[in-house]
Amino acid sequence: MDINQIFENNRSWIAKKLENDEHYFEKLSEGQTPEFLYIGCSDSRVTAEELMGAAPGQVFVHRNIANMIPNTDLNSMSVINYAVVQLKVNNIIVCGHYGCGGVKAAMQQSDLGILNPWLRNIRDVYRIHKKELNAIENEENRYRRLIELNVLEQCINIIKTAEVQKASDERCLKVHGWIFDIHTGKLIDLKIDFPKIMEGIKEIYRITP
Ligand code: CO
Repeated sequence: MDINQIFENNRSWIAKKLENDEHYFEKLSEGQTPEFLYIGCSDSRVTAEELMGAAPGQVFVHRNIANMIPNTDLNSMSVINYAVVQLKVNNIIVCGHYGCGGVKAAMQQSDLGILNPWLRNIRDVYRIHKKELNAIENEENRYRRLIELNVLEQCINIIKTAEVQKASDERCLKVHGWIFDIHTGKLIDLKIDFPKIMEGIKEIYRITP
C-alpha cells in the first residue's frame, strides 16, 4: 500500500462514519469507557479490533512481541494499572496466535541481540512446562502448545498484580486466555480456570490482606 493511500483511506473513513452518524466524532471525543483490555501480539496479521468486530472506544489495546507481560515491564504494567484502576475494565484478554514469530524464535538457538531478554521470558515458559512440551514429539504441535502455554503464563503474570487481585475481590474482573488461529481466522477461548488460578496465585503472590 502506498503511504499516501492511508490519508485517502482516512478521508473516506471519516465520510462513512459521518454518513451513519453526523455526531460520531463529537461523541468519540467525549471520552472512553472500554469494557475490555486486550493484550496481543504486534504481528501485523493479528489486528485487535478487526478480528473481534469491535468499534473505536470498546477495547483498550496493548500489543508487543509475543503478547508478553513480563513482571518488571513498566509499559505493560502501566497499561494494566490504567485499564483496571482508572478505566475499570472487567475483562482482560491475553490473545496469542498460532504462527507467532516471537515464540518460534524463542524455540530456536540463535543470538538475537536486544531481543534476547524479551524472548528469555518465553524460554522461561518452556522451562516451567518442559515436561509436557518435551513429551510432544511433533515439532509443530509442540510449537502450538508453547503458544498456548505462553498465553496461560502471561495470564498468570497479570493475576499476580495488586490491581488485578484487588479488582477481582471488589468486582467481577476476569482474565481470559485466547488464541487467534491464523490459519482459519478463528478465535479460540483457552477457558483458563480464573478462580482456581487466582486461588493458587494468592498462596504466594497475595498482596491484599
Ligand atoms: Co506473534
